[in-house]
Amino acid sequence: MSERKLHPAVAGAQPMYRAENDPDAPLFEGAYKQRFDDILTRYPDKRAAILPVLAMCQELRGWISSETIERVAELLDLTPAYVLSITSFYTMFRPQPVGKYLIQVCTSIGCDLCGAENVVEKLLAATGTRTGEISEDGLYTVIEVECLGACGFATVVQVNERVYESVKTETVTRLLEELR
Ligand code: FES
Repeated sequence: MSERKLHPAVAGAQPMYRAENDPDAPLFEGAYKQRFDDILTRYPDKRAAILPVLAMCQELRGWISSETIERVAELLDLTPAYVLSITSFYTMFRPQPVGKYLIQVCTSIGCDLCGAENVVEKLLAATGTRTGEISEDGLYTVIEVECLGACGFATVVQVNERVYESVKTETVTRLLEELR
């Protein structure tokens, strides 16, 4: 194994989904009510604000529950079914809680050809989980995702806000140790 340090790069500003977030945190109160009001000022109507509002809810609670869907629908004058259709279309919205570290492995063709499935298997074995589960210590959830946009550095793995390039089965243990 190369001594080269894994290369974590900062990914997009997508708020992440940690088990340490409080899944029962009150929505739209205090500073979050202010943020909600600020978000609304940036859009021509409430409906257009749905993505940043949902992202804020996920940042606070770590996932999007049915209760969250109903609150967002109520505040944005939408139906719960409409809000649910948005959360199920965009895969960055989590329909269930995840571990402190959400490990997303690209298994699109570029990474797949470079052994992404083996990386997934190694990660699942090392964390003692099945895809989408939270490990017993609450630290890890491993999922497969589509192209992460760094195809020249397969296999690409995103852990919360960070992207790790050229991950191989041999570097999985070190990656997990770095996270602890
Ligand atoms: S195919 Fe894996 S990052 Fe694009």
